[in-house]
Amino acid sequence: EKIIFNGEIIERSKVNIDIEDRGYQFGDGIYEVIRVYNGTLFTKEEHVNRLYESAEKISIHIPYEKLELIQTLEELVQVNQLKTGIIYLQLTRGSFPRQHGFPKSEVPPVYVAYTREMPIPKVSMDDGVKGLLVEDVRWLRCDIKSLNLLGNILAKQKAAESGCFEAIQHRGEEITEGSSSNVFIVKDHCLITRPATNLILNGITRQVIIKLCQENGISIREEIFTINDLLEADEVFISSTTSEVMPIIQVNDKVISSGTPGEITRKLQHLFQQKIG
Ligand code: PDD
Repeated sequence: EKIIFNGEIIERSKVNIDIEDRGYQFGDGIYEVIRVYNGTLFTKEEHVNRLYESAEKISIHIPYEKLELIQTLEELVQVNQLKTGIIYLQLTRGSFPRQHGFPKSEVPPVYVAYTREMPIPKVSMDDGVKGLLVEDVRWLRCDIKSLNLLGNILAKQKAAESGCFEAIQHRGEEITEGSSSNVFIVKDHCLITRPATNLILNGITRQVIIKLCQENGISIREEIFTINDLLEADEVFISSTTSEVMPIIQVNDKVISSGTPGEITRKLQHLFQQKIG
């Protein structure tokens, strides 16, 4: 199995990461997950743009051109003959004797990318899944796709232990986002999702969905909504690179509407499918 290590495609077993890599010690780095459908990278420019934006926000300089980076990712997919799955890529601030402040001298970032087969979660997408409300205890820069994911991990684990697919996080009464997804509700035929501020990651799937709504005459508002709005919604779904448009049919003990994926959710799943091609 081949991977990318600092821009080169090599054997996975040849990778050597230092114990003082700042990603390993501090979670000091950024990442992306890109979907691969039928051997092609879905919304690759959007993901790579976001990677560079995250890097900029934490002052990591990426020593590759965007185009070059995309080409190597595409080459990796070909070499590994990946059809349906994901590419995971991450960049850390590099390796340096441990200290909280940035390295004093120029240190190159450490860049790793690998592919993984991952089927489309068809059954869950058809039947819908459950969500669990979890207080959002993360920091105030959730717009950065940072390797620091402890808050997200603890939330997801809590959900899993309750037999739920996803944690739906809230700050007080306001819904923020899932542990690894964005949240949408439908009320009176209008889709509502939280504005993309510093409190959520502006999901690429979220952005695709908003665009699909605008192109297909589905009303959408980017607005703050509450726990109560969620529980009383006509439809609820979450979105992410791996889950696409995933219906939520129950939150905690509250069955959402009729307990089956709603009409607008279905429509968006269909439009998303068309977009993938
Ligand atoms: N997670 N919000 C958070 C906190 C996320 O981690 C993700 C993605 C999203 C959805 O973003 P996108 O539509 O661009 O995938 C929202 C990825 C898939 C992960 O960590 O595995």
